[in-house]
Amino acid sequence: MAQVIAEVSRTFNEFLLLPNRTRTDCSPATVDLRTPLVRHLAGERSAIELGSPFTSAIMQAVSTPDLAIALARNGGLSFLHHNQSIQDQAAAVRQVKNFKAGFVTSDTNVRPDDTLSHLVAVMRRTGHSTAAVTHDGTATGRLLGLVTSRDFHPQRHDLDGPVAGRMTAVADLPHAEADTTLSEANARLWDQRLDCLPVLGAGGHLQYLVFRSDYADNKRFPNQAVDAAKRLRVGAGVNTHDYQERVPALLEAGADALCFDSSDGYSDWQAQALSWVKKHYPEIPAGGGNVVDGEAFTFLAEAGADFVKVGVGGGSICITRDQKGIGRGQASAVLDVAAARDAFRERTGEYVPICSDGGLVHDYHVALALAMGADFVMMGRYFARFDQAAGAKLPTRDGFVKEYWGEGSNRARNWQRYGQGGEGLIFEEGVDGYVPYAGDLNEGLATTIAKLKTTMVSCGSVTLPEFQSTARLTLVSDQSFQESHANVTLRDTPATIA
Ligand code: IMP
Repeated sequence: MAQVIAEVSRTFNEFLLLPNRTRTDCSPATVDLRTPLVRHLAGERSAIELGSPFTSAIMQAVSTPDLAIALARNGGLSFLHHNQSIQDQAAAVRQVKNFKAGFVTSDTNVRPDDTLSHLVAVMRRTGHSTAAVTHDGTATGRLLGLVTSRDFHPQRHDLDGPVAGRMTAVADLPHAEADTTLSEANARLWDQRLDCLPVLGAGGHLQYLVFRSDYADNKRFPNQAVDAAKRLRVGAGVNTHDYQERVPALLEAGADALCFDSSDGYSDWQAQALSWVKKHYPEIPAGGGNVVDGEAFTFLAEAGADFVKVGVGGGSICITRDQKGIGRGQASAVLDVAAARDAFRERTGEYVPICSDGGLVHDYHVALALAMGADFVMMGRYFARFDQAAGAKLPTRDGFVKEYWGEGSNRARNWQRYGQGGEGLIFEEGVDGYVPYAGDLNEGLATTIAKLKTTMVSCGSVTLPEFQSTARLTLVSDQSFQESHANVTLRDTPATIA
């Protein structure tokens, strides 16, 4: 007969935090959100720390190189998805590692014989008004000139004419050499009153553009997650099928951490894959998951996992619970796994961070997950809403939406994640849909971070370990929910998005 666990499976919505005494040294400005990413000796620092406890889901719809760059600049980390060829995933990792603040890879590129109407279409698609004219129309072709929206007007100029007729030729363009630093480039932008400075490599091939409008950008991100060479950090998802080929390619591309990504990580496959990575590539940290209980956590920690991801069935696009009847309320799962993590630390002296993955619906759920013991969170829906995510932005009657689809949906068909037997999906475990568009990640995440910091202040903590060890949680009844929902007719203001 099956064993029935006495404790009810609970979700974040069933809990609230009690305020603790707030000391005078405790303010949003003094809150430090640093958190360990990978296994380390208890009492020492993790080899990789995040400046803020956010990671983006290993999903096609979410973790693009653009999103990874934006998130790392805000102290977090993306895990680029593995539902693509090894070459494409390695190229995505390289794109993040090669990012140089202020140096932009041109995304608006044309050939000299392209028509002005083609240029208008490209500018409309990218939303940018400066285009590089290169010999082959790529971002790294030989630079022939620059053309901006100020160089032509549809009523004055023949849109069927070639771009070459309106561009400023490279001979007349101030440009910089490949070894130029950002401060040198900025000095030239201001001294020569330029809007844009192209940086050229060997043979006059375009490498980057530096824009005057990005000047203040770097100062905005004091908490960036960077490696020893000051390059942004990036993670990569891997599966238990082709890891022997994928892991070396990702390592070579510069990935900082890997994560075995499975809807059910409590398996011999995952333990074998983790042991293989530890044996052949001990220099790269590798996490595992997903699990929902202490027993499964300990299994993966003993197999060598550098962090463990928690969550089955709670994801917003997830239908695993309906399809297979497995899963656990995310709050119960995190509390149980956190207790096992602490027991593992007592027994071995090693701290294996845990990540609460999926089912974070409101901003305050992040605070609850961290208070319950998560070292960092992973979110899909949350990040899918931003400009930097992969899904298309579409207009609807009620405003814009972004596409968001699960890895177990027919759209993604990530059969490596779901182990239904053989290659391909027999049934779907995720849905394909839309989420409300939420603009730029930098602004959205800043609001979430502000809420998290003020919650921590109310709970009298300035660090995440302090928050975890002192937080007091209470279960809420239906009646206590009603208390804060008395009927007040709301003024018609734009909807908030969290
Ligand atoms: P969200 O933040 O609630 O949207 O959940 C994102 C998480 O759901 C991911 O990090 C995965 O762990 C999980 N997930 C992604 N795609 C699917 C799917 O198709 N079915 C079930 N779970 C999924």
